[in-house]
Amino acid sequence: MPRIGDLAPDFEAMTTTGKMKFSEYIKDSWTILFSHPADFTPVCTTEMSGFALDQSFFDEHKTKLVGLSIDSIHAHIAWVNNVKKNTGVLFEFPIIADIDMSVSKRYGMLQPGESETAAVRAVFFIDPAGKIRLIMYYPLNVGRNMEEIKRALIALQTADKYKVSLPLNWVPGEKAIVSPPKTVDEMIEREASDYEMVDFYLAKKELPKA
Ligand code: BEZ
Repeated sequence: MPRIGDLAPDFEAMTTTGKMKFSEYIKDSWTILFSHPADFTPVCTTEMSGFALDQSFFDEHKTKLVGLSIDSIHAHIAWVNNVKKNTGVLFEFPIIADIDMSVSKRYGMLQPGESETAAVRAVFFIDPAGKIRLIMYYPLNVGRNMEEIKRALIALQTADKYKVSLPLNWVPGEKAIVSPPKTVDEMIEREASDYEMVDFYLAKKELPKA
């Protein structure tokens, strides 16, 4: 089961946009790999539609989306067609047909206590170096929160860009936490800074406006 900090396991798979070698597909880009339990199910339909409706957000944040379930390509295509006909929403991102469960097993998406045959609702955030940076798991009967998925992506990208950490409930526009000082000199320097300081080890600064 991959953990935060691991390189994303590579695989080849059939998807709704053609054959995919994952390591090549994700190269030099942020990627969100997410699984859903089954096509033609209600919660999954709301979630996949949510990702599709936010496609422009993910494009703006240079992030590729890749869906997955243990269903065939034919089922995926029929579902994509059904949702498009019913709601006008098109799932443009690739959806992996993990019919032999090989990718689900590799990524720990198959959690037998929850289901032996359907992937849980997993979300893997993978950075441009191919490293897993954040993982979310939801059970079969609770849908994810798209606002949190977008917030977490922006937080990861912001932390990397400005070499900062983000506090509880941080949202874009708020101050970020600067790393604690490593020397006494740095601690004294910090006291003269314009950081918002609870103490020298908990200091926040404004980030440039996006
Ligand atoms: C759903 O997406 O609604 C769903 C899928 C599998 C099990 C339970 C619910």
